[in-house]
This record gives sequence, structure tokens and C-alpha cells, in this order.
Amino acid sequence: MLSYSIAAVAAACLLPLVSSNKVTSLEGNGWTLSNPSLNVSVPAHLPSQAHLDLYANQVIGNPYYGLNDFNLRWVAWANWTYTSDPILGLSSNASTWLQFDGLDTFTSISFCGHHVASTNNQFRQWWYDITSIVSSCPSEADRVLSINFGSAPKIADAIAAEPGQETWPAGPQLTYEFPNRWFIRKEQSDFGWDWGPAFAPAGPWKPAYVVQLADEEVHVRNSVIDIYRQGQLNNLPPDQTKPWVVNASLDYFGQLPEGATLRYTLADLENNTVSSGSMSSVNCTNATVTGETTIADGTVDLWWPNQLGPQTLYYMTIDLVSTSNTTIASVTKRLGFRTIVLNENPISDAQLAQGIAAGNNWHFEVNGHEFYAKGSNFIPPDAFWPRVTVEKMTQLFDSVVDGNQNMLRVWASGAYSPDFLYDLADERGILMWSEFEFGDALYPVNKEFLDNVFEEADYNVRRVNHHPSLALWAGGNELENLELILLNDSAPEELPRYMAEYETLFLDTLLPAVFGNSSTSNGWLSLNFSNPIPIVERYYNLTPGSVYGETDFYNYDPAVLYNDSAFPVGRFSNEFGYHSMPSIQSWRSQISEADLHFNSSTVVLRDHHNPSGGLNTSNFANSSTGQAQMTEAVELWYPIPNKTDSVANFSAWCHATQIFQADLYVSEIEFYRRGSGLPNRQLGSLYWQLEDIWVAPTWAGIEYDGRWKMLHYAAKDIYEHVIIAPYYDISTGNLSAWVTSDLWEAVKGTATFTWYDWKGNKLPVNTSSSVAFTVGAINSTSVLQTFTTEILKDYDLTNVVMHMSIEAEGTLPNSNHSTTFRHDNWFHPTALKDAQLVDPGLQLSYSASSNNFSVTATSGVAALVWLDYPAGTVLNFDSNAFWLAPNETREIGYTVKSDSTSSGWIKKVTVESLYNQTLPY
Ligand SMILES: *[C@@H]1O[C@H](CO)[C@@H](O)[C@H](O)[C@H]1NC(C)=O
Ligand SMILES: *[C@@H]1O[C@H](CO)[C@@H](O)[C@H](O)[C@H]1NC(C)=O
Ligand SMILES: *[C@@H]1O[C@H](CO)[C@@H](O)[C@H](O)[C@H]1NC(C)=O
Ligand SMILES: *[C@@H]1O[C@H](CO)[C@@H](O)[C@H](O)[C@H]1NC(C)=O
Ligand SMILES: *[C@@H]1O[C@H](CO)[C@@H](O)[C@H](O)[C@H]1NC(C)=O
Ligand SMILES: *[C@@H]1O[C@H](CO)[C@@H](O)[C@H](O)[C@H]1NC(C)=O
Ligand SMILES: *[C@@H]1O[C@H](CO)[C@@H](O)[C@H](O)[C@H]1NC(C)=O
Repeated sequence: MLSYSIAAVAAACLLPLVSSNKVTSLEGNGWTLSNPSLNVSVPAHLPSQAHLDLYANQVIGNPYYGLNDFNLRWVAWANWTYTSDPILGLSSNASTWLQFDGLDTFTSISFCGHHVASTNNQFRQWWYDITSIVSSCPSEADRVLSINFGSAPKIADAIAAEPGQETWPAGPQLTYEFPNRWFIRKEQSDFGWDWGPAFAPAGPWKPAYVVQLADEEVHVRNSVIDIYRQGQLNNLPPDQTKPWVVNASLDYFGQLPEGATLRYTLADLENNTVSSGSMSSVNCTNATVTGETTIADGTVDLWWPNQLGPQTLYYMTIDLVSTSNTTIASVTKRLGFRTIVLNENPISDAQLAQGIAAGNNWHFEVNGHEFYAKGSNFIPPDAFWPRVTVEKMTQLFDSVVDGNQNMLRVWASGAYSPDFLYDLADERGILMWSEFEFGDALYPVNKEFLDNVFEEADYNVRRVNHHPSLALWAGGNELENLELILLNDSAPEELPRYMAEYETLFLDTLLPAVFGNSSTSNGWLSLNFSNPIPIVERYYNLTPGSVYGETDFYNYDPAVLYNDSAFPVGRFSNEFGYHSMPSIQSWRSQISEADLHFNSSTVVLRDHHNPSGGLNTSNFANSSTGQAQMTEAVELWYPIPNKTDSVANFSAWCHATQIFQADLYVSEIEFYRRGSGLPNRQLGSLYWQLEDIWVAPTWAGIEYDGRWKMLHYAAKDIYEHVIIAPYYDISTGNLSAWVTSDLWEAVKGTATFTWYDWKGNKLPVNTSSSVAFTVGAINSTSVLQTFTTEILKDYDLTNVVMHMSIEAEGTLPNSNHSTTFRHDNWFHPTALKDAQLVDPGLQLSYSASSNNFSVTATSGVAALVWLDYPAGTVLNFDSNAFWLAPNETREIGYTVKSDSTSSGWIKKVTVESLYNQTLPY
């Protein structure tokens, strides 16, 4: 095709084309799932996966129940064929195409009994011209689409066994359950991970269409809109006064009429046109039409992340128009205007003068402002994507906002997120740090594999690029800082070769897929845009005393809880955590009553940490390691539940593991956030992990049905804008308290300290009772520095607690009125298992007029007050897992996310505190 400039568009007086562009969706019923050798043939639907249709037809039980993860392996080892009913109403002489937005994973596709194509990548879109097949298949009854899905685990094994196939040292290649996942382009966690099951599902998991086109008609299968500031370069902060450049392209199939051009309309959400016109630099290549326009600075309002300003969105319509000014195709996308940059520049002299340590930056800047990233890691929300509903994800993303988070890391070994997730994130201001689907392994670099990866990356980057919530593309999970270290341990002599292979995949293949359209690492060593690959990786080229990059930290020694010196000092923390049990309510939905014991074989074998490392379905040794870590953590720090009723005891143990988890994450987040005011200038913490894929012991803060664990409440509290927190070295008695703020202007206030014994008597401990403070923008300041060895030397440490609270005045980002910020926190000098807990005499009431619960501690200090509610409802209280001072009352609102009890849950809310964990009932 030739390319045309705008001037070539003549006002020709041709008759408009009559559009016969007919798109037939293949979604819904009208499919059959079969496997002749297993004698299975059942009604099916699309999009779907074999397990879902087998379950719907009761060929198998609930895949999530009990140990079905292991029992249903035969489903993954089998081939499954999806066959459509005859597709009626197709014209025999039109140009006819099949479009699949996703096939999981290895297929052989036929139409009317003729082979169409084979596919081998879950993440790609596929489209095929089947004109000649349709025209040679006149009988409508024969117009049947059949997709045979090969067994992904079998095919992965077969590829691994090919002669001359690449091999790697064992260290870096992490096998969870099914082996050889790195040879295939399928969701890597489908083969097992340490928080999830291994079903290796197969099926047409995304929509599919038949498209018929007349001459000079096209069908747009994908499109990209890229918005940036004029002159902006990847990785470098742009000039915020420049106009916006809007670059659009439509990927199509069909026959493009000569002289086609592009028109755009930018409208606000009320459909008022903000800007419109012809696009310039229109270029029609074989399968893509691109064009460009600029939008003057100030024409549009900016989009901001949650809590940093409004989430202003617009509609952009791109029309492909013929020389006769007829619209040939039209695409509308909802988008926003913002710049987001991961700044990895060297620390400047001005930053050194602020007390920031030498090295490189590693933080995000939105619209030219640095900010503190608060959030968590998002994993696949279900082992079967086709049943992930907009409704359930809306609840989840509402919980992200309710949890004071502004960023999710869309973890690298699941699937590229569907557009509706980015839409939810756009509306709520949740930045999506998005990753390519590679993790915890080295990958092949043969040409076929790299070409396949390039197509996958190119399609997905183009598909989601217009979403303002897209924060960046990162290469994968635990690669540079884990794989290369493991490799260096197991086969140091091979390191150069494998590093070169790593660069072939991540720099030479994936980076251009991102740059063409728009990592746990130590960042780059240098950046030179005149090189084809502008980034030179830093790897371990580190100067001692300087600070670089982000950190990923796990330590399963529970002694880490009150040992700040164990936590890593970096610029950003993208993973950290410890697992805990889900609630008794969740367990009951997926295991039998008889299995409700901490160490029942079903509970233990659903703990996939440590992973079994293969297909051994009774690897108690590895699972028990994970169970033991949770048990040891409880035993080291908290009262040990010993209830006479065995189910109550199981529930109390589940709760105890959640207490440890929440306390540990709070300690770490307090540590990382304080770092915003220390030389490492720490500007983000994303904990592992936001949500559960099923019901099992995992690192999640939100359970599979949406119920919040203690962690999500605790994280919400410690992600408040202005917080106070204690820092304590148990070995030296060094105690300090710091106020940390992520506001963009200084905040002034007063910190108050009150000492009590557990019965609630005030103690005259020798510290200031109140301290005035000012904290600068995204900074921290010490408000207390003392030694318990001195101030508490005359006290029994098991009977002392300190309440600290702040009240401060400041301004929210992009707001001009003053807001009052309050926060409180508690310090106890010994482990809570040694504390002289008393019955705090909790009283709970509910007021129908205010719709609030209220809890009062009538007879002592109440630690870790916990409101609970029965299954059948998903809701979150405005606060939970809080402490109460003697005679303090807290009013607690709530948000119901789903309810099948007609508000019956209200009467069934219970309250307890840590004291209840000491009771036999
Ligand atoms: C199963 O699928 C694989 C891959 O598509 C194919 O090679 C094989 O012939 C299929 N087997 C059967 C019995 O259909
Ligand atoms: C704007 O236009 C879109 C597409 O035509 C329509 O779906 C939407 O309801 C309109 N919105 C308003 C506020 O009129
Ligand atoms: C149009 O795109 C092609 C392929 O990307 C490129 O080679 C050509 O230079 C472009 N033409 C114009 C006028 O930009
Ligand atoms: C045009 O695209 C089709 C399908 O993408 C491809 O098969 C064909 O070779 C391309 N033609 C040219 C001239 O590039
Ligand atoms: C083409 O159509 C659009 C929308 O109907 C109209 O605004 C524009 O003036 C027309 N352009 C020409 C050259 O006729
Ligand atoms: C944080 O506050 C301290 C004390 O006011 C100040 O010296 C330091 O420069 C601030 N850091 C930054 C990065 O602004
Ligand atoms: C648990 O309680 C029972 C009495 O109900 C008692 O016999 C047992 O020793 C207790 N176990 C521990 C570890 O305290």
C-alpha cells in the first residue's frame, strides 16, 4: 500500500460504500466439548476452558474442592476439542476471516473439515483468512469450527525432549508442579506456584469472531493510542509544558481502499467535543494505519493516581475514512492524559544536598511529581480466567482503593490483564506496573521462540497502551536479581553465555516491543538513545556506599518481626511478605468439616510453600515446611491458641497466623516508608500479595471470595498519608518514634505519648507526653528517641504498653484546603505472648440510625480488636485489627460488597481481641 498525506484526500463525489462488514461473535452457548477416547461429549460455551465446562456438566466436581488440584491431573494430560454448532448466515463469496482474541494454548483449528492453522501462544491474537474454505463449503450444516487443544504439559515435555534442546543448570529453573513451563508461552502459574493450584487448563479463553468483508472493507482487530509530551523519551522525565502528542494506529485485516486517512474526535465523558480534526503523518502499511496529532497543553485536564488528584478521563474516537469521506472503520477508546516515568537517573548534586545518598534514583514520577507508591502485587485472581467477572474485579479494585493503595504490580507469570481490569484501574487511579509473562526461570532464545514472544508482547503492549493506569512495562519476575545469582552459584562458568541469552530475550526482543509503541533490578548503568538498544544494564556494577534499585525480601525466620536491621535498604521495595492461613469461613467453602485441622492432610497439602517441585501429590515434607513457618511465628510472638472445641481451635490458629502476617507487613512498611526521609530516599512499597487465587495458606491480604484478612486492614492503616510508628531494637532497648508523610507539602502537628499497664492504669514513664513536629514533603522525622533500658528500668516489661497518636494539619496533593490527619499506634516492649493481657471488657453495639458499629474497651487495653462476620457476605469495616485505650470507644462504618443474607449478617457480627486467643473457649 502507498501512504497518503492529508492533502491527497479529495472531496470526491463517489457514492458511499455500502458497508457489509459483518462481525459474528462466537461467544455464548452453541459449542460442544469432547474427547472421544475418554468418551466425553458435553455442551460447552465460549470463552471457556475444559475444566469449567466439565464442571458445569458434572463430569468433574468443583476443581477447587479438597485435593482436586491433584485428582484432576488427567484433565490436563488430555486433548480437548471445542466444536461449534454450524455457523449460519455466512455469505459464500465474501472475504471471510476468523479472529481469536486468545487460545489456551496449543491448537489445531479446522473449519468445514479443512485445517486452518495451528497456534502455540496463549497470549497472542490470531486471525485467518478462510475465504476459500467457506466458498468451497456450500452446505451450511458443514460450516463448523473445530478447535483441538493439545495437552500443554505433554507438549512442554515433548519440546524439552527435542534433540539439541537447550538445558539450564537446575538452580534457576523453578519447577512447582508440572515441569518445563519455560518452553511454552502459557500462563506460567498454570503449572503451579507456591500460592496456587496447577490445573494447566486448556480452551478458547477469550472471545472469538467470524468476520465477513466486502471489497475495500477492513476490520480493526487491535489498535494503539500512545500519548506523551512532545520530545519525551522513554525513562526520562519530560518537559511538562510541551503539548501532548497523540499517536494512533489501527491494526486491521481486509482490503484498505486507496487514499484512506484518519480523523479523530476527543470528547469528555459527557461527549462534549474537546478537539477534533484530521490526523497528520498518516501512513498506511499492509496491516496498520498510523497517524498523529497534537493537543495543546492546557486543553485537557490531567489524570492522577488515587489520592493524588482527580482521575479525569476522555473518549478518543479514531475514524478511518475513505477518499469519499465515508467512515470505513471507527474505534473509540477511553483514555487519560498523564506522564508516568520510572526515574532511574543518577542522584543529582541538588539531591545530594538534600541528604540523599549517592547512586541512582528508582522511583515513579506522575505528571512531573515524585510520589510514594503504596500497594501490592496482583496475581491471577482465578485459576480459570473465563470465570473472572467484572463484578468480582470491581469489588477487588474497590478494596484496593479502600486500602489506601495507588499501585499494583501485575505480576509476571500470570496473564496479561484484560482491558476491563485496566478500565477499573483507570477509573480508580490504580497504577498498573505491568510485566511480561516470564518468571523464575531462564528461557529459550531460539528464533521461533523469540519471534513468538515478540508477537505476544507487541499485541499486548498495543492493546493496553492507551490506559492512563499503565505505569510501565517490566521484563518479568525475579529474573535479574534472582536467576542470575542462582546461576552464578550453580554454574559460574556459564554465566556470560546465559547473561547474553537473558539480554537477547529481555533487551533485544522485549524492549523494542515497548519502545516501538510507546524489572526487580538495579536499574541501568547508562542510557544512550542513539544506540538501537538504549539501555546498558547495571547488573552488579555497584559502588559501595551508594544506593540503587529496588528490593525483594523474604525471610521465613519469624525472629525477623522486630528486627529492622534484617530489612533491605533500597530505593523501592517491590516484594516482601510471609504467608498466613485464610479464615475459617473460607476454608469451610472448599474443604470438608473433618479436614478443619491445622495439620489435616488436606490443609497441609493445599500449602504449596514450599512447592512440591514436581508432580508428587503427597509431598508432606515440603508442605509441612510452610505450615511450620506459620506455627513457629505464632509460637514465638503470640498467645498459643488451645481451645477445647477443635474447630474453634483451628479458627483461632488461622487467626493467629494472620496476626503475625499483619504485624510483620506493618513493621516492614513502617520501615520502608520512614526511608523516604533517610539517605536511601525510599519511594515505594508493594507487598506480596494483594489477593488469593483459591483458598489456601498464602501471602494474600484478600481471600478468594473478597473477604479481607487482617493484613489488608493493617496495610490500609499504615498506608494512611501521615503515620506515626515505633522503631525498637529489642537487644539494645533503643526506642524511637517517627512521623512519616507522603503529602506533597509540609505537614505540622503534635505527637502524644501515653503509657499504660494492661489493666489500663496510666504509668508515669519518663518521656515527653507531647511533641510538636513538622514533616516535609514525602519525608519523615523523629519525634521520640530514648532507651527502654533507662525509662522502663523500674517497670515489669510484660505489663507496659505505650499509645502514640498524632494530629496534624496539611494539604492533600492537588487540593487547596487544609485537612486534619490522625493516626495512632502502639508500642509493647516484649512479645505479646509474654504480655499480661487482661480481659478488656469489649462492648459491641450497632446503631441502625448511624449505620455504625461501636466498640468500647471497658476494663483495660485491648490489643488487636477484631470484628468478624459470617460467610455469605463480603464486606469490609472502615477499620479493624485496631487497639483501644482504656475506656476508648471506636465507631466503625462498613462497606458491603456482596450480601446473600438480606443484612442478616449485622446481628451476627462478633468482636474479640488478642485476649480471646488465651481462652479455652
Ligand atoms: C493431541 O494434540 C496434539 C497437539 O495438538 C496432537 O499432536 C495430537 O495428535 C492430539 N492427539 C489426539 C488423540 O487428538
Ligand atoms: C457518550 O457516547 C457514548 C457512545 O456513543 C455513549 O455510550 C454514552 O452513553 C454517551 N455518554 C453520555 C454522557 O451521553
Ligand atoms: C510508512 O511506514 C513504513 C513502514 O513502517 C515506513 O517504511 C515509511 O517510511 C513510512 N512512510 C512515511 C511517509 O512515514
Ligand atoms: C500483508 O499482510 C499479510 C498478512 O499479514 C501477509 O501475509 C502479506 O505477505 C503482506 N503483504 C505484504 C506485501 O507485505
Ligand atoms: C468529512 O466528514 C466529516 C464528518 O461528517 C465532516 O466534518 C468533514 O467536514 C467532511 N470532510 C470533507 C472534506 O468533506
Ligand atoms: C527531609 O527533611 C529533612 C529535614 O527537614 C531535610 O533536611 C531533607 O532535605 C528532606 N529530604 C528531602 C528529600 O526533601
Ligand atoms: C491445652 O489445654 C488442655 C486442657 O484443655 C491441656 O490439657 C493442655 O495441656 C493444653 N496444652 C497446652 C500446650 O497448653
